[in-house]
Amino acid sequence: MGKSILIVDDEKNIRRTVRMVLEGEGYAVEEASSGEEALARLPDISPDVVLLDVQLPGISGHDVLESLRRGCAQDAEGTGRPPGQPEPVAIMISGHGTLADAVRATKAGAYDFLEKPLDRERLLLTLRNALERRAMAREVAGLRALAEGRFEMVGQSPAMTALYAQIAKVAPTRTRVLITGESGTGKELIARAIHRESPLRDRPFIKVNCAAIPPELIESELFGHERGAFTGAAARKRGLFELADGGTIFLDEIGDMSLSAQAKVLRVLESGELSRVGSESSLKVDVRVLAATNRDLQAAVASGQFREDLFFRLAVVPLRAPALRERATDIPLLCQAFAAQIARDNGLHDKRFLPEALDVLAAYAWPGNVRELRNVVERLVILCEGSIGAGDLPEEIVAEVARRSRPLRPMADLQLPPEAANLSLRELRDLVERQVVRAKLDENDWNISRTAQVLGLERTNLHKKMRALGIARDDRRDS
Ligand SMILES: Nc1ncnc2c1ncn2[C@@H]1O[C@H](COP(=O)(O)OP(=O)(O)OP(=O)(O)O)[C@@H](O)[C@H]1O
Ligand SMILES: [Mg+2]
Repeated sequence: MGKSILIVDDEKNIRRTVRMVLEGEGYAVEEASSGEEALARLPDISPDVVLLDVQLPGISGHDVLESLRRGCAQDAEGTGRPPGQPEPVAIMISGHGTLADAVRATKAGAYDFLEKPLDRERLLLTLRNALERRAMAREVAGLRALAEGRFEMVGQSPAMTALYAQIAKVAPTRTRVLITGESGTGKELIARAIHRESPLRDRPFIKVNCAAIPPELIESELFGHERGAFTGAAARKRGLFELADGGTIFLDEIGDMSLSAQAKVLRVLESGELSRVGSESSLKVDVRVLAATNRDLQAAVASGQFREDLFFRLAVVPLRAPALRERATDIPLLCQAFAAQIARDNGLHDKRFLPEALDVLAAYAWPGNVRELRNVVERLVILCEGSIGAGDLPEEIVAEVARRSRPLRPMADLQLPPEAANLSLRELRDLVERQVVRAKLDENDWNISRTAQVLGLERTNLHKKMRALGIARDDRRDS
């Protein structure tokens, strides 16, 4: 279907001419003879471009333009317009074109301005450009939504709520933040969130993976080099600190940086100045520095692997990314968020996690944290048909959770009475054994074989033990 154009003009002749020209070019054309009519019909037509006469009988073209933009902005947040669907592009038309009108209209967000009498070629060219711009706007909106989804932090646990509050406090400042936490806990996401919520959000965010750059190259990567500074330096190159000027530099895996590079970074932090490799003069840069590490930097300082002065300059505010097992209540939310994202990326239907599966996932210890969880979810979304149940989960996770939860239940029920303090060791042992055996019997529905197996006893020995401890079938709790 052709792109749809709405022409708003009170002159019938103009509408007819425009319709003829545009339909001849394959566009779908709608007409409105007043601003009121245009606004009323806009939601139904949702045109790509609106050609808008400035002088209309009722409300003016300028007013229509304004409510067009306002209305669309509201719509984008509500449900009217799908995300990523930009507002129509407005092109103003005037019979008595004055520069003032043109300036006012473009300031108010019109794409361009055409004068009557309309010139066919100019009309078509302007229209093509406007459509191209709209396609680009759509692409940008889509990419932004995608990128923001990628770097969105998920979680509502107390640990995450506290973290969000800390991010909100440091983001508006220029304070240096050192982000610590186990591998896969989202340290990079935190750095991006701080930048995104800072006044520098429209300036560059440059991430440097200090562990990935060979020690002999890190200086030239960070600070740049002059032509001929060393073999292979064929041209002058700007360093990452220079590229980040005015914005944020994120020194990731800072704990892996060599001592000599640490000294150079320290100089930039202290003086705001750097020199390209092979250059005599120094440059001023204005960069906010965020750093992250999964190492224990204080221990590295103690062992001489990390400069103490650099540590204190980086860790003005330390932020700790909580391990996933410290916020297990977020696991269902993370599973659903990742599943939706992965399904969308791969053109698959969204998958639902059954509560039984979420229970197991929430009980697992996640040594690889959120990254490990994301990988497991990706595997499940790709491989499973329909909803994801406990039986679909990776065997090692199910086994690990079973192993950890088995001894816990009866132990949690263990209760020593106050007089236990005065019992002999033997009496104490009987007391505990009685509770453990009873708990295991209850757990296994008083099935003797199964209980014996769980306790690591022969059936006959369990019977003997029960008699010795005075446990009889009649003791069954639930009967
Ligand atoms: N709170 C969160 N919400 C959503 N996704 C998260 C969250 N935390 C981490 N992730 C995801 O987990 C993965 C690992 O996150 P990230 O790279 O930020 O971890 P890291 O702490 O920098 O790990 P490493 O120390 O290994 O570099 C990424 O895919 C990231 O999007
Ligand atoms: Mg990282």
